[in-house]
Amino acid sequence: MALDLRYTGYQIQDGKYDLPGLPAAHSEAAQTLCIYLKDERVGVEVTLLYGVLSDCDVITRSVKVTNVGRNEIYLEKLSSACLDLLYGDYDVLTFYGRHAMERNMQRTPVTHGRQVIGSNRGTSGHQYNPYMILAEHGTTETAGACYGVSLVYSGSFEGSVELDQYDQIRLVMGLQEDFFSYQLKPEQTFYAPEAVLSYSAYGMEQLSNQMHHLVREHICRGKYKDQIRPVLVNSWEACYFDFNGEAIVNLAEQAAALGVELLVMDDGWFGTRDDDNSSLGDWIVNEDKLGCSLTELTKRVHDKGVQFGIWIEPEMVSENSDLYRKHPEWAIQVPGKHPVHGRNQLVLDFANPEVVDHIYEQIAAVLRQGDINYVKWDMNRSLCDIYSDSMVWQGNVMYDYMLGVYDLLERLTQAFPDMLWEGCSGGGGRFDMGMMYYTPQIWCSDNTDAVDRIRIQYGTSFAYPLSTMGAHVSAVPNHQTGRITSLNTRGVVAMAGTFGYEMNPALLSSEEKEEIRTMLATYRRHQELIREGDYYRLSDPFQEEVAAWMSVAKDQSQALVSVVRLSAEGNPFGTYVKLKGLDAESFYLEETTGHVYSGMTLMQAGLLLPMAAAEYEAYQFSFKKMKEAADLYDVLRNKIS
Ligand code: GLA
Repeated sequence: MALDLRYTGYQIQDGKYDLPGLPAAHSEAAQTLCIYLKDERVGVEVTLLYGVLSDCDVITRSVKVTNVGRNEIYLEKLSSACLDLLYGDYDVLTFYGRHAMERNMQRTPVTHGRQVIGSNRGTSGHQYNPYMILAEHGTTETAGACYGVSLVYSGSFEGSVELDQYDQIRLVMGLQEDFFSYQLKPEQTFYAPEAVLSYSAYGMEQLSNQMHHLVREHICRGKYKDQIRPVLVNSWEACYFDFNGEAIVNLAEQAAALGVELLVMDDGWFGTRDDDNSSLGDWIVNEDKLGCSLTELTKRVHDKGVQFGIWIEPEMVSENSDLYRKHPEWAIQVPGKHPVHGRNQLVLDFANPEVVDHIYEQIAAVLRQGDINYVKWDMNRSLCDIYSDSMVWQGNVMYDYMLGVYDLLERLTQAFPDMLWEGCSGGGGRFDMGMMYYTPQIWCSDNTDAVDRIRIQYGTSFAYPLSTMGAHVSAVPNHQTGRITSLNTRGVVAMAGTFGYEMNPALLSSEEKEEIRTMLATYRRHQELIREGDYYRLSDPFQEEVAAWMSVAKDQSQALVSVVRLSAEGNPFGTYVKLKGLDAESFYLEETTGHVYSGMTLMQAGLLLPMAAAEYEAYQFSFKKMKEAADLYDVLRNKIS
């Protein structure tokens, strides 16, 4: 309460600092600045950590706190980054939402008082993404100053912006104070989760691209960081809990016939789980339901020519489970109080290493049973009734829970390095850079409706690259909204992410199957561009009648433009979309129409869309730079000069 930290020195080191037990940006080319502070009286040493990643214009922040005194100390509040803007008129952009409607963008002027986002749910949450932007009034996609701040953490957090008495702005991002009172014993050290900050003088689009580069290069790790991700079909919306081994093999066969590469068996394969009332915690294959062992099932799926993936929700326990009957004390709940349920389940006490060890053994044993290539790691409820039976002091539980989750993620990803991991939390409830450190892709939302997804993916794109966004084509009428959109539209929207299907191909007509084959061929042609290219938002789907976005290769040699008409009206007039990121002085061939445009024309005059025939119609345009034309242009220009 009376901390008096004094500067004792600094150091500049080559390389980027690590945070033990926590996700953090990695880069060999980075440098670290350490600023040392000490309070002699209290016995606390603090190191302010700054990582400088110049290739993406990012500064990372963290704080190390060590108890060098003789008594316990209690951390009541600890933030990761504080950014002071001494003058100027700014807006704050936040990304709010709810289950199945995540990451809507809100932009409001910074006014006197504090504007606060955050989560005290133990996950970063559906309600506010741990990302904020401060943008000078009037900043657009391509002009104006803006600062982005994101937390590389998946638990409770708080981000705030305040305009103070002198009209100065302070942005603070870090751990949530609620349920946090961290007891630090003598000689113990605590690390604040990492915050990453970036600045653009040229509008929001450049800021997003810097963040995308950071995530792709310096946050994501593992085999699939830079690799082509398999196109998958997931059993969830195809059959929910209602499947057996035969149905899974049939789905694999159907998928293979379409050219899909991976079959994911979602929830319902373990314990006695036929609905969401039981079995979480019992990671024992339900061979009665599957009609065979997991080893046999994976083999049968592989024999159909596709890889095999599986769903897990390791942090949870159902009261109706053998694990809970044996270890009720392993669930987070307050003794003597009827626990609050979320989706009929309780959360396991991952602050207790014994629990994490047990779950590790169970999950690892499952993953060793067959040739399993993919895991979807889900997390379907918030934490509340915060109480750990393994701890005397409860103020550490929320943070230590996250350390337990990260520990399990680290151990499993290390033990199964060839596995593709996809994060999920009721869709996009834990869509943050902390999870991306372990899982290079995350199921973006439980909402698979193409039109809602356009807006969800739009909001998501402000901080996160397409390579992280799980996006699937599902059946119509859509299961969340009842909306009917064409297969083409659903395909175009899902291609702005890690592509897949969430439907039963057996229910498709032969024309639809043919369309899917063509769609897959299109996706394959562009998948590297989608994963690695620079991303541009071409319209605001919350405000405009068309949604448009594009990916451009780093060398500007190719581009993929996607457009969806969000509304149609009678006697329509021509709609133009202005492209971005192309080489103004080169010519581009649009591959479907054979039309040739200069980059300048496409960016300054725009591309005329086909006349509207129907609402929700989608178009894709694929541009290739014409090398000969560019060379000719150079010759002409040299002649003129
Ligand atoms: C969550 C996920 C879904 C699905 C179900 C299974 O809602 O977001 O994709 O895996 O759980 O129970």
